Amino acid sequence: MQRVTALLTATAVVMTGATLGTDAQSRRDRFRMHGETDTEQTPSVDARGAQLPAPRTTEAPTGFDNETNGFLRQGPPFETIDADNVVPLRSFNDNRFIFEEVEVVADGLGPIYNAQSCGECHQNVATGGASQIAEHRTGRLMGDEFFESLGGSLVHSRAIHPDIVEPVVYENSIRTFRISTNTLGAGYVEAIANTTLLRIREEQPAALRGAVALAPVLEAEGQPRIGRFGWKNQHSSLLSFAADAYLNEMGITSPLFPTENTSSGRDVSAFDSVRDPEDDGVDIEAFADFMRATKAPSRGPIDAEVLAGETIFQNIGCAACHVSTLVTSPPGTRINGGEFTVPEALGNKTIHPYSDFLLHDIGTGDGIPVQPTPEFAWTAAQIRTAPLWALRTRNRLMHDGLTFTEREAIERHAGQAAPVTARFRALSAADQELLLRFLSSL
Ligand code: HEC
Ligand code: HEC
Repeated sequence: MQRVTALLTATAVVMTGATLGTDAQSRRDRFRMHGETDTEQTPSVDARGAQLPAPRTTEAPTGFDNETNGFLRQGPPFETIDADNVVPLRSFNDNRFIFEEVEVVADGLGPIYNAQSCGECHQNVATGGASQIAEHRTGRLMGDEFFESLGGSLVHSRAIHPDIVEPVVYENSIRTFRISTNTLGAGYVEAIANTTLLRIREEQPAALRGAVALAPVLEAEGQPRIGRFGWKNQHSSLLSFAADAYLNEMGITSPLFPTENTSSGRDVSAFDSVRDPEDDGVDIEAFADFMRATKAPSRGPIDAEVLAGETIFQNIGCAACHVSTLVTSPPGTRINGGEFTVPEALGNKTIHPYSDFLLHDIGTGDGIPVQPTPEFAWTAAQIRTAPLWALRTRNRLMHDGLTFTEREAIERHAGQAAPVTARFRALSAADQELLLRFLSSL
């Protein structure tokens, strides 16, 4: 198997665990990387060196319609499914039910959490979409070194007992919101080969070249894969993200994250009556498979003005980061450290996410690195190019959700995007309007 180490220096994550509490230590251990990154490249020549035909690609199905993309069968009518007859992993509708299911204390909710279901934060316009719900992250700098708030940079804003809600600490002066992102079409993003992301990066002009952060595939014993999910590309596999979210958003442990969080460093096991892992692994698989089975977001009406706006978007350089078109790896490709094989429904699909899924410093970085270790310090200023698909379903923009119009979102682009923003400003009012018309069609 080819390795990408020629292109990437292997990120040997050296842990400085001696001074950490067990809570922080166990969290860091979960994110320890082992092994090397696969290219996930499929051969273009056969065993005798003869050129193989280029794969036939088709457009990924799109829509905000709660219908399967073909990865799972649709299943029994959604309205007929309830907590007693749901069969996890059986179908799209069963897994959608589990994604929307409201968890309570008896299921293991909390002790500290942010919301009761995946669907509470991922729902607009269909289950799996984005929402206006923002999480809060805090930490502080001591000298040059970042320290996350006790119990992790993610502040949990709810708890099952009034005494254990996490406070925000005055000294933790690095604070940011991160708004809920879209997961519709995420299965296609997962099926993009590492090589594809590296090729996009190589082709970018040096001044705005994106950066790659490796993320451990937890179900593959921490094998590194190029991160592509979350505002910071903190995960590369949907199963890993689902397990992370189940623990960190809802307080439910699973085989991939078996240890409960503390409340700002305080042990809260006295409040927790359910044995860990609270999910035996079936729920996180149902979440991952649900997201894999969602269609990509569809476009709004496309007219001549929208097309003219897209040409301007390309000409002034927005598309260097907001890449319009990507193709997933062929069916049969083994990804996620060998733990997932790209199926027919997700392979050789053309998608239009308007993102390179790489990290950039456009001056909006929230100061919180992917991991609070020296190796990741460089990520504090970086944010993933926000995929612009489903943009018309959102009215709170950028990672913090604190920008409300597309024009202001563009105005906020500095750093690596500064020359492109300058070109936007130099456009005639009419051309700016066309570009905004295009954005509103996404
Ligand atoms: C309290 C709200 C909340 C809940 C509940 C929640 N999420 Fe999220 N989700 C978010 C936010 C906020 C982000 C972006 C976080 C970041 O990047 O730091 C996100 C990002 C994601 C992503 C990354 C998508 C992308 O490409 O950006 C996935 C996948 C995801 N969530 C899955 C889930 C699953 C599965 C569940 C249920 C177990 C869940 N989430 C529960 C708020 C939530
Ligand atoms: C150097 C790479 C780069 C270039 C060039 C670039 N962007 Fe972005 N864009 C980003 C990143 C990174 C973000 C996320 C920033 C954040 O959330 O803090 C973003 C966010 C956005 C958003 C907000 C999307 C959302 O869901 O919140 C819009 C809209 C947008 N860009 C449009 C544009 C347009 C239009 C142009 C050209 C004028 C452009 N971008 C050029 C990297 C880039």
